[in-house]
Amino acid sequence: MSRAVLRVSLLLLAALGRAGAGSEQDQDQEHEHGGEDSPHPRQKGPGRSHWSYEDKDHWGMDYVNCDGTAQSPINIDTSKTIFSPQLRPIQLSGYSLPANEKLRLKNNGHTVFLDLPGSLAITGGYAQQYRAAQLHLHWGSQSGPGSEHTVNGHRFAAEIHVVHYNTKYASIQEAIKQPDGLAVLGAFLEVGPRENPYYQEILEHLYNIEREDEEVLVPGFNIAGLLPDNLKLYFHYNGSLTTPPCYQSVKWTVFNQTMMISNAQMSMLVTALKYDGSEPLQNNYRLAQDLHGRQVLASFQTTLPSTKPLPSDSDDSAAAGHSSFHPGDVLAVLFGVLFAATALAFLLYIYKHRSQNARLDSPTKSKVIYTAAATENTA
Ligand SMILES: *[C@@H]1O[C@H](CO)[C@@H](O)[C@H](O)[C@H]1NC(C)=O
Ligand SMILES: *[C@@H]1O[C@H](CO)[C@@H](O)[C@H](O)[C@H]1NC(C)=O
Ligand SMILES: [Zn+2]
Repeated sequence: MSRAVLRVSLLLLAALGRAGAGSEQDQDQEHEHGGEDSPHPRQKGPGRSHWSYEDKDHWGMDYVNCDGTAQSPINIDTSKTIFSPQLRPIQLSGYSLPANEKLRLKNNGHTVFLDLPGSLAITGGYAQQYRAAQLHLHWGSQSGPGSEHTVNGHRFAAEIHVVHYNTKYASIQEAIKQPDGLAVLGAFLEVGPRENPYYQEILEHLYNIEREDEEVLVPGFNIAGLLPDNLKLYFHYNGSLTTPPCYQSVKWTVFNQTMMISNAQMSMLVTALKYDGSEPLQNNYRLAQDLHGRQVLASFQTTLPSTKPLPSDSDDSAAAGHSSFHPGDVLAVLFGVLFAATALAFLLYIYKHRSQNARLDSPTKSKVIYTAAATENTA
């Protein structure tokens, strides 16, 4: 009995939680409209210049910042990250674009990037507000992975970067050199069984921009679909652009949840583009840089299992009594007791009502009462 009540109350609490999340999204919509007066940012980032991934070990000769002590990417060692409960979930607003809003997709010889309108913004998770400018990808080849960040030494197949700049600066050109200028959201791409429809919105156009400097206009879509569903679990550190001029202006967020694209989609990504005439554009990733004492924060506990195993059905209540209680459990039990009391009062009422009116009850009425009782039992 008590376990069933606990389960019901947990379900109710979950439903209440979802209702709460919905109201947060409503607030997002307001922010979205507040950002419409913003100037349209120009694309920046891996610009058209003479550097290449072949000479990435020598970028510092032409671009001094590339030899700095807060460079990106890094290897994230989850045994050394610092759990920081104040790292709130990343909140995005304005990410769902209508198809009639056309976006520029370009092969710049280093990557494929998609210009983003400044109406897209990060409205939660950072201390300040950041406006989107562009997104781009890093990948490997048919024979190896190509993410920039690594986790415990593991390199993922590919990585997406969504670049934003601090709204306190007038443009991304101004923000790009400031220590608090940029916020980049990074997520890893892996090969899974299904085609990813959001990534397809980009990948299906790659054959139109095979050569360096080619560009195409693509219809808007829900850009948030390119990022994980779970925006609560992430790593955070201070770093840099991962391409020259390597400015140390990026507050990085690297998500713990990865994205899946199909094998065919990954093949398309790593083979479609060329640069410098007919060279395949592959392995456009920089190797992990020294931390130089920097801290990497985690929004979640990386060392403990993130989910506590639920008691199995064979557990008896005596065994359950030994498990430690958490504030959430106490709430659930309170809720369960309240629920049980209400249900009991209701049943008593029905019982009383029935015995009083037994002879007068019509078949339809008893049917109604039966339905109500059944609903209570299965809620
Ligand atoms: C990043 O740099 C800012 C400014 O120096 C500092 O306040 C903050 O603690 C740093 N964050 C991390 C994760 O080290
Ligand atoms: C996510 O976090 C878990 C727990 O620390 C870790 O084992 C895993 O490698 C992480 N994955 C990514 C992609 O960050
Ligand atoms: Zn990048």
